[in-house]
Amino acid sequence: MSKKALWPVAILATLIAFYPMAYWVAGHNFGLLTQKDPGLLASQAYRLFFFTHISFGGLALLTGWMQFVSSFRQKRPAIHRLLGKFYVISVILSGVAGLVVAFKATGGLIAALGFMLLGLVWLITTIRAWLVALQKDFAAHEKWMIYSYAACFAAVTLRLLLPLLIILHKGEFEPAYRIVAWLCWVPNLLVAYFLTAKKQKASVRSLS
Ligand code: HEM
Repeated sequence: MSKKALWPVAILATLIAFYPMAYWVAGHNFGLLTQKDPGLLASQAYRLFFFTHISFGGLALLTGWMQFVSSFRQKRPAIHRLLGKFYVISVILSGVAGLVVAFKATGGLIAALGFMLLGLVWLITTIRAWLVALQKDFAAHEKWMIYSYAACFAAVTLRLLLPLLIILHKGEFEPAYRIVAWLCWVPNLLVAYFLTAKKQKASVRSLS
């Protein structure tokens, strides 16, 4: 990704990465938790999964974009590897917890399925990216990390699109939320597809 294109990604990701802190400060009296059943909120397991998901999700969002800065990767390879391990661990913790909280997603089955599929894509692309890095296939590593971060960036696109969708649905939250559970990540993966295809074409051209 060019430096110019990375700037808005970095700024938006950094802003949203700190958003989960609002839940740490306000607890149940904030955001989506105010819509949950008191029985669910009383469950220690649900709270543990919810807070694991949002906290490690924020950390993955914050550390992920830094890994795409090529000058940083070249100058500080050891820090790139360390941050990379931190990103992978954060994704596994946040992704698995996200799959669990998705069962109780606001908006019912359609929203739940959207988040579950996103969680699976996030986990699979990240683990794949990590495994190919271990095999020193760095072209494949970059490709799978672009997909992984495109999935992670759904946390940003969701929060940009949701207010617009709520306005389109005349202030109704649930129908907007059902749509955004899909719209927050499918277009991101299409962008990742075009970015990786462009990179592949450029590398074939440089070889011929
Ligand atoms: C990429 C894979 C992700 C999946 C599958 C996912 C899934 C979910 C699910 C299922 C919920 C609960 C929705 C509900 O109960 O209705 C949720 C909420 C939340 N997630 Fe994620 N999430 C992902 C990434 C992230 C990331 C990277 C962050 C980092 C900021 C994040 C932050 C939050 C927050 C703060 C909430 C609380 C709801 C809100 O206030 O908007 N998520 N997520």
